[in-house]
Amino acid sequence: MRTVYLDHSATTPVAPEVIDAMTAAFRDVPGNASSVHAYGRRAKTLLEESRESLAGALGVSHEEVFFTSGGTESDNSALRGVLAATMEDGKDHLIVSVVEHHAVLAAAERLEGQGVRVTVLPVDADGLVSADSIRAAFSSRTALVSVMHANNEVGTVQPIGEIARIAHDHGAAFHTDAVQSFGKLPFDLREVSADLVSLTAHKLYGPKGIGAMVVRKGTPYRAQVVGGAQEMNRRAGTENVPLAAGFAKAVSIASVQRMADATAQEALRERLLALIRRSYPNILVNGHPTTRLHHILSVSFPWDDYAIDGEALIAGMDLRGVAVTSGSACTSGTLQASHVLMAMGRDERTARATVRFSLGRSTTEDDIDYAAEALQEVVRMAKGRGAR
Ligand SMILES: Cc1ncc(COP(=O)(O)O)c(C=O)c1O
Repeated sequence: MRTVYLDHSATTPVAPEVIDAMTAAFRDVPGNASSVHAYGRRAKTLLEESRESLAGALGVSHEEVFFTSGGTESDNSALRGVLAATMEDGKDHLIVSVVEHHAVLAAAERLEGQGVRVTVLPVDADGLVSADSIRAAFSSRTALVSVMHANNEVGTVQPIGEIARIAHDHGAAFHTDAVQSFGKLPFDLREVSADLVSLTAHKLYGPKGIGAMVVRKGTPYRAQVVGGAQEMNRRAGTENVPLAAGFAKAVSIASVQRMADATAQEALRERLLALIRRSYPNILVNGHPTTRLHHILSVSFPWDDYAIDGEALIAGMDLRGVAVTSGSACTSGTLQASHVLMAMGRDERTARATVRFSLGRSTTEDDIDYAAEALQEVVRMAKGRGAR
């Protein structure tokens, strides 16, 4: 059976050059980067080169970047690390948006249980946070604002430059989860003054299990993984040097390919949308019409027109070899309607009847045509059969 992978927002395949870089590191650089002997020094050199290259791509100093196990750890650490450092001074208020990834929302909820006051900002129908709602949420106790750069489910890109400015005007730090946008959108911290940034390698053709966190100089932050002086005392534990080398390689490829990837994927996404609309004119496209990631297409089948069960959609596509998702990768598998789509005002049954296609570097026109045909068949069979 033909297979088509259209779930690049969940994860991307590892680029061959990245595999080569990691293989070389696994084979030739076996030391522990903390050891003082030659093996250790070699590992340390490769680690620091990887850090430098990441820092260069972000426009920050190498001392401001440390490696983590991925986006989830970076998000958790950002929120907990700042609040741990500020609570003693009476700064115990956290602002997050309702469309954040669960790695932010669950960390905020945990902090709330520990006495932090949490404000959750709403979004409009396009998934955008408004500057006015942020201004209204501040108090003299606000320590941190956390708003993601681009949303993983619908692709909406938030005005993080403006949000950072507002946070700073009110004496708060600003964190952004750039897991989905890094390597896809321009992201230069000389222009966007975010204080903390979460990143991961596996969304940009790097390996799973490594991410990074930027903490700009002067930002209040207390390490959340302790027990060693690694990563400039910010994250204890033996560093995974081969994965760091793979991450750096993936970032350097992305910096060359980014524009070409964006142009190609945007054209393919428009082709897919046109094909779906031709058969199903009443579908709703989720996310901001223009300010969104170029590779994500999230469409909902309104309940009143189609009465489709979302699960049947995804299962039907899977049976035809097409990998797509109905919500974020981290929540698929549970039956809850997406918190992002609900926050954007979709009704629950329509939110469930949603397919997110996320295109990648190797996606072709043939893939798109095949996926559109598969969707047409699946919808034809599932239409009107949703559980009422
Ligand atoms: C926006 C966003 N933040 C955080 C994460 C978690 O990253 P990781 O899988 O590296 O833990 C994801 C993964 O889907 C994501 O899309």
